[in-house]
Amino acid sequence: MSGPSSYQPNSRFEKWLEARLPIISMVHAQAVDFPSPKNLNYFWTFGGILTVMLVVQIITGVVLVMHYTPHASLAFASVEHIMRDVNYGWLLRYMHSNGASMFFIAVYIHIFRGMYYGSYKEPREVLWILGVIIFLLMMATAFMGYVLPWGQMSFWGATVITNLFSAFPFVGEPIVTWLWGGFSVDNATLNRFFALHYLLPFMIAGVVFLHIWALHVAGNNNPTGISVKTKQDTLSFHPYYTMKDAFALVCFFIFFGWFLFWAPNYLGHPDNYIQANPMVTPAHIVPEWYFLPFYAILRAIPSKLGGVLAMFGAIAVLFILPWLDTSKVRSATFRPLYKQFFWVFGFVCVMLGWLGAMPAEGIYVILSRIFTAYYFLHFLVILPVLGMIETPKPLPASISEAVLKKSGGAGRPAAAAAAPEHRG
Ligand code: HEM
Repeated sequence: MSGPSSYQPNSRFEKWLEARLPIISMVHAQAVDFPSPKNLNYFWTFGGILTVMLVVQIITGVVLVMHYTPHASLAFASVEHIMRDVNYGWLLRYMHSNGASMFFIAVYIHIFRGMYYGSYKEPREVLWILGVIIFLLMMATAFMGYVLPWGQMSFWGATVITNLFSAFPFVGEPIVTWLWGGFSVDNATLNRFFALHYLLPFMIAGVVFLHIWALHVAGNNNPTGISVKTKQDTLSFHPYYTMKDAFALVCFFIFFGWFLFWAPNYLGHPDNYIQANPMVTPAHIVPEWYFLPFYAILRAIPSKLGGVLAMFGAIAVLFILPWLDTSKVRSATFRPLYKQFFWVFGFVCVMLGWLGAMPAEGIYVILSRIFTAYYFLHFLVILPVLGMIETPKPLPASISEAVLKKSGGAGRPAAAAAAPEHRG
């Protein structure tokens, strides 16, 4: 997608380096000249926001580790020490814990943006699959990170989730013992979770590199879903999108700052301020908010194994999404039926999130079953069928035309714009 760089080495040092390692021209081609569709809206700023959030999490995490002790009898106290004694320790810890929530807010917006505008479709399937791998790694990282303060929710959350593996026949029990490194969640478990929690973000960074590489091969999708045809359809990444991304980042940090400084414990659970006690089970064991829809799916199925399979299936289905959606048109803007089903699906996900926080009894279980069934119906039945029966709206001939029409400029009439080639 990105053409040759317009970079010209000026100083003697730049010329010397360019002849040996053309890293400046490479970065210039990818981050300055990179031709981007001229109609990207603010939903396209979340990839950049996510990249910054990953850096924030790694930096705050590395500094937290300097004062944290990964031992079952010291972890809880070391976190309290960070909060009370370490200079700005409270800020570091709250940035890291609320940062995880912000990361998930951004990633959910990023994923739903992709779903709305059909960004997972050809030629961006690998880009999408790399995204789903990142999502899985993020969930594993967040789950293990939550265990580290060794509070009541840390301990019981880890116990419940690791125990799920015991649902597999024959191999289940040995797997759980192997995961724990003993016969219950204990010091060995805390230690290995700590080691992995430190490792995984760097693996995420590696997959993000591949994700952005794949993006720079296919180029950005855009709100119309039509491919870039001429230079007229694009703008250089810098200064247009560097500035747009920077503005969105400032707004996002104001939102982050509100939680950080005014309600730093709003998204957490008070029980995690009680030290882990294997003898006392909390009244309700609930995961962090970002896991709640999957937790609802887990509990919706009466059999334990069924619940585990449904929960992992809910993520696994995302891997094959590019092939489940049979429509030739990418963007929901031109898909009147899909647009409605998209919002129904969004509503179902929110409801599942709410149900995940409710006790697993009575009406809540029934509703969880209905919404779980719909979740899978959306991917496995609605998307394949919609693509076959839906009549899309006429597509504009090009991105430039769509932009001009929107701003009241010269554009071809809609009928003439009904391009035979749907993807452009
Ligand atoms: C650490 C997490 C992630 C980072 C840092 C990241 C980064 C980025 C960046 C910088 C872009 C280009 C700007 C933009 O389109 O917003 C992008 C695009 C994209 N990402 Fe991600 N991403 C992450 C997670 C995900 C996940 C979980 C998915 C899907 C499951 C995903 C799917 C996509 C797709 C399909 C595009 C192309 C969008 C388009 O051009 O329309 N990403 N990502």
